[in-house]
Amino acid sequence: MVITSAPGKVILFGEHAVVYGEPALAGAIDRRVYVHATKIPSGVKIVSDKSKDFRYAKKAVELAFDYTGRKCGLDIKVDSELPPASGLGSSAAVSVATILAVSKLLGAKLSRAEIAKLGHRAELEVQGAASPTDTAISTFGGVLFIQPKKQKYQRINATLPMVVGYTGIERSTKMLVQNVKSLKEKFPEIVNPIIKDIGKITREAKRRLENNEDVGELMNINHGLLDALGVSTEKLNELVYAARNAGAKGAKLTGAGGGGCMIAYAPKNAEKVARAIEKCGCAALKTGISGEGVRVAFKYNN
Ligand code: PMV
Repeated sequence: MVITSAPGKVILFGEHAVVYGEPALAGAIDRRVYVHATKIPSGVKIVSDKSKDFRYAKKAVELAFDYTGRKCGLDIKVDSELPPASGLGSSAAVSVATILAVSKLLGAKLSRAEIAKLGHRAELEVQGAASPTDTAISTFGGVLFIQPKKQKYQRINATLPMVVGYTGIERSTKMLVQNVKSLKEKFPEIVNPIIKDIGKITREAKRRLENNEDVGELMNINHGLLDALGVSTEKLNELVYAARNAGAKGAKLTGAGGGGCMIAYAPKNAEKVARAIEKCGCAALKTGISGEGVRVAFKYNN
């Protein structure tokens, strides 16, 4: 049997603007998905408490069989520390951890680049459209500067203590991206500069992270612009202000918005910030942004 794990992700800067070719910064978090896989005589059995995870695991198994040209009977169990549809990248983590687990049981050696590619394909086939960001972060770990036009990922050496606040409200990334597109078409002269400014913020954040400088204020500006694009909500704003009032150096929504999660950069006051988020009736998780990518956690040859 083999147990693999892969991290979830947060977008630190640049969501929505990345859809229009601006860069984004995203990082792996310390919360992971675990896939337990065992060879059985025949058939593929998948157990997961979340129906969404089940679909990604099933697709990942099919793709791993196809890609390696090998097959076996499988018993798979998915355990996740990530809430689904929250923007924390749970489907990408399930996909890449399953691909690694199945490839190990089949005796096939896949590179990280191959795992990321297959994981992205699993996401595309299950949900129709998906950017390769989540599967890249989940596979490689760490913090990545993403340049969509060049299809390039640059690793940034940064470790950031963050508090993630989860509103508990599920949302559709597709719908929120569509809303921003409509606003952009209605007011191009106003919305295009906002998107360009988010790109500038992301480039400046990269420069500061590489020099070990504070990015709190840039997070606040980024949040204000995302709110202007209409993707924040009253609850997300409440959490952002609660975090700042509790001593966070910066706070912003993360991912598509409309619910889901926010992040607070709180190097000194993480505990206080987490309590302030909980006081708003939401879950808080303290996490480092530097997590290790997909890996084998346990392997037993039988
Ligand atoms: O909701 P998430 O975390 O999957 O993030 C979506 C990020 C967007 O920029 C809004 C969309 C995208 O495909 O990049």
